[in-house]
Amino acid sequence: MIKKAVIPAAGFGTRFLPVTKAQPKEMLPIIDTPTIQYVVQECVDSGIEDILIISGKGKRSIEDHFDRNFELESRIQEKEDEALYTQLRHIESMANIHFIRQKELNGLGDAIYHARFHCEHEPFAVLLGDTVIDSVIPVTQQLIDSFEQYRQTVIAVERVPWENVSRYGVVGGVNLSDRILQLNELVEKPGRKQAPSNFAIAGRYILTPEIFRALEKTPRGKGNEIQLTDALRILLKEEGIIATLIEGKRYDIGNKMDFLKTTVEFALKRKEFSVDFEAFLRETIKNIDDQKEK
Ligand code: G1P
Repeated sequence: MIKKAVIPAAGFGTRFLPVTKAQPKEMLPIIDTPTIQYVVQECVDSGIEDILIISGKGKRSIEDHFDRNFELESRIQEKEDEALYTQLRHIESMANIHFIRQKELNGLGDAIYHARFHCEHEPFAVLLGDTVIDSVIPVTQQLIDSFEQYRQTVIAVERVPWENVSRYGVVGGVNLSDRILQLNELVEKPGRKQAPSNFAIAGRYILTPEIFRALEKTPRGKGNEIQLTDALRILLKEEGIIATLIEGKRYDIGNKMDFLKTTVEFALKRKEFSVDFEAFLRETIKNIDDQKEK
């Protein structure tokens, strides 16, 4: 049973400046819901209600978002908007959320190391706060299923175009089944020639507490930061690690182009917008085509 999850959310969000200058990237809304709420919902949908968010400077609005706001609630109640009231109450009661601050930004590995007192006795899930995955079975649940079967550290991976491998942690291994690899290699942001495959780490993990000992031995790597991928490589010398090829679509909301695409796709999926929004998109494309013909 995986009962705890860690969501690292301390990064600067430099790829999304200027909006992230005074606002956490994890609070950027996909339509009307901050991305981190989708990530928390994925935990809850995977049976995890104990969540530790690694926050940092300028991230207080994440805490406020999951806190109760009595004044706002009573205002909504006065307006007798039952649906909205229920939605607000859901947010503050969806999980037990703890916060710890990463005071210096020393990388993803260092962020995870901040979870050691919370997670030292049991395996736990890690969900990167700037990645949303749309899937039938929540991806964290897919990883939990792999963990229950193989009892090893599990990393979510997806195939990416070869020209993009240098943006990701990349794994190499042998197939145990259609969707499971037994790993023999892990590299953080390799060049195309150094990449052992085009299976990229997709921002979801099930880690065992042994990761904390590995992190203690991990020197600074790419970007002069303590990389989680490097710690996993150290761990690989001592114990098995598998990768699960995820079933679902991953949205990296940390970069502007993907964020735009995410917003469009999610809007098309929302009942109250889909018809009008599709009509708007068709009209827009038609106008673009007409302009080109002139
Ligand atoms: C992090 C990880 C990388 C992983 C990626 C997924 O990199 O270090 O291994 O592939 O997330 O989004 P970042 O995007 O924070 O540079």
